[in-house]
Amino acid sequence: MKIIVAKSAGFCFGVKRATQMAFEASEQHARICSLGPIIHSPQVVEKLTEKGVAVIQHVENIDSGAVIIRSHGVTAEEMQAIQTRQLIVVDATCPFVKKAQEYAARLARDGYAVVIVGEAEHPEVQGIVSYAEAGKVTVVANATEAAALPRLNRVGIVAQTTQSFENLRQIADICLEKCQEMHVFNTICDATTVRQNEAREIAGKVDVMLVIGGFNSANTTRLAQICRELQPRTHHLETAGEIEPLWFEGAAAIGITAGASTPRWLIDEVIDRVTQLTGPPEK
Ligand code: F3S
Repeated sequence: MKIIVAKSAGFCFGVKRATQMAFEASEQHARICSLGPIIHSPQVVEKLTEKGVAVIQHVENIDSGAVIIRSHGVTAEEMQAIQTRQLIVVDATCPFVKKAQEYAARLARDGYAVVIVGEAEHPEVQGIVSYAEAGKVTVVANATEAAALPRLNRVGIVAQTTQSFENLRQIADICLEKCQEMHVFNTICDATTVRQNEAREIAGKVDVMLVIGGFNSANTTRLAQICRELQPRTHHLETAGEIEPLWFEGAAAIGITAGASTPRWLIDEVIDRVTQLTGPPEK
């Protein structure tokens, strides 16, 4: 049996950093929580809970101690509320998300109408919007929404870090026709694209594809969708315990990838289980 494991499988830079910071902070503070689950991996969240990191959804419910900010950041109002309550901040906001927040704030301060390319409901986007509050800010998801924008004088654009470059370019093209001056910050992080391209490449040449990651993780679910389009025998799983031997019947090659919030140990457990069931991998 041939097993192909994606090189990019698992934690992206920002999630790895946030998870490390959370585990380190759990050793340093007796009272500690994260504002929402630190990552979309129930298994990692469970390990952190065992180490005393409670998951709290709203700042108003935290009285004292340390609070960990997730990799996709919080709104300016939430940060203000954390400071007012004099909580200890462990800021695990991904530096790429921080950059998008800073550029949005700068554009708004400089008088640009800020256009944020992304999904309005996503917490990362809500965070970026809140930093642009000094000015006029609109979230635009796609070209159709961009076409509906009014004529503007000066437009400043930033993107949600997980957007596709194509979407940013299309929206920027449309905005350019509606304004006199435009400033675009490409705040897209390529972690998502790299994982998706590699998953596509592997799914196209194997008989069974395994995609590991939280069922609540949007990026893992998207990876599984992409793989399923190319290989219908794609399984989205969280842990090795879910694997069924029947999945591999008649297969000569198995592909494995994992979302950006899947820790290495979960990937290794799946590889071990597949090897147990199918024999040592072919070199
Ligand atoms: Fe950061 Fe990119 Fe991951 S923005 S959290 S490194 S997907």
